[in-house]
Amino acid sequence: SKTLKVALLGAGNVGSQVARILLDDADALAARTGARLELVGIAVRNVDAPREVELPRELFTTDASALVRGADIVIELMGGLEPARTLILEAIEHGAAVVTGNKALLAVDGPTLYEKADAAGVQLSFEAAVAGAIPILRPINDSLAGDKITRIMGIVNGTTNYILDAMDSTGAQFADALADATRLGYAEADPTADIEGHDAAAKGAILASLAFHTRFALEDVDCQGITEVTAADIAAAKDAGYVIKLLAIAEKLEAANSDGAITSGVSVRVHPTLIPREHPLGAVRGAFNAVFVEAESAGELMFYGRGAGGSPTASAVMGDVVSAARRMVLGGPGRTESTIEVLPVLPIEAVTTQY
Ligand code: HSE
Repeated sequence: SKTLKVALLGAGNVGSQVARILLDDADALAARTGARLELVGIAVRNVDAPREVELPRELFTTDASALVRGADIVIELMGGLEPARTLILEAIEHGAAVVTGNKALLAVDGPTLYEKADAAGVQLSFEAAVAGAIPILRPINDSLAGDKITRIMGIVNGTTNYILDAMDSTGAQFADALADATRLGYAEADPTADIEGHDAAAKGAILASLAFHTRFALEDVDCQGITEVTAADIAAAKDAGYVIKLLAIAEKLEAANSDGAITSGVSVRVHPTLIPREHPLGAVRGAFNAVFVEAESAGELMFYGRGAGGSPTASAVMGDVVSAARRMVLGGPGRTESTIEVLPVLPIEAVTTQY
């Protein structure tokens, strides 16, 4: 069968889990895509840096550019603007499919990258960039493509939800909760991006661009983080039946300008928001994420799951990798004959009635 060469850029929290899946699940991935996905190398800054996940040393290289040039699929999980941007552009020029989780880069340079990928006829996918494991970009792009989205409200930063939830439920101190979130691998290398709302703003810009078929960059997002939220604010909200959540909100609005003319537009913003405790978003605990979508025909939808951490985010990356591989094999999305697995149907006695 066909072999597709996969280059991985970055071996951090997410990258190392992706490498593990590519190596451990090679047979299942071959059955699902119709091609062997051969991990040909992992580009890192320091080959000898200590890593939590054990990976074959011979895969590591510091020459990311050479790795990209020899690949059919490039997975960029280095984060940050450079050298990620240059390497993605190299991959596109070279005709490789690109999968990235780089929300910061997409929020700044997304439009240029999408255009270049379209012009080169290559697939650029980034489900992992927003809300970790939650499938949200594909539903917005595909499943809801025949509807009109009117509003999106997302808890899209696990670290800040973890902190606010700990303060709300156990009265934890901000600094202690942040230290826990960092220890659990949710926070960014510099957690300022989490607590000041910049990470949520980047994700808000990506969501708004897809939902409203236009272009929003990070600088278009009005942003306020959670550093000024006090224990007293949280207690007062609780007494009144509310919970404080950091939301990324993108909504279609009509506003009157100074001469009274009505203009419609989209507001994209991130700020601490009071949510009724019984609202579906009010039930999102810990580092979980959720994206609440309102659309004209569909009405209200909520997408919920793990929004941060190595394995959950690796799941979203691998979904994009499989989809890219299938397109390369079949010339379009689809399933191969070999993906059909026949499992026995279990009797009712074998199941639990308690969840
Ligand atoms: N620091 C991010 C978060 C990681 O806490 O949600 C996932 O993008």
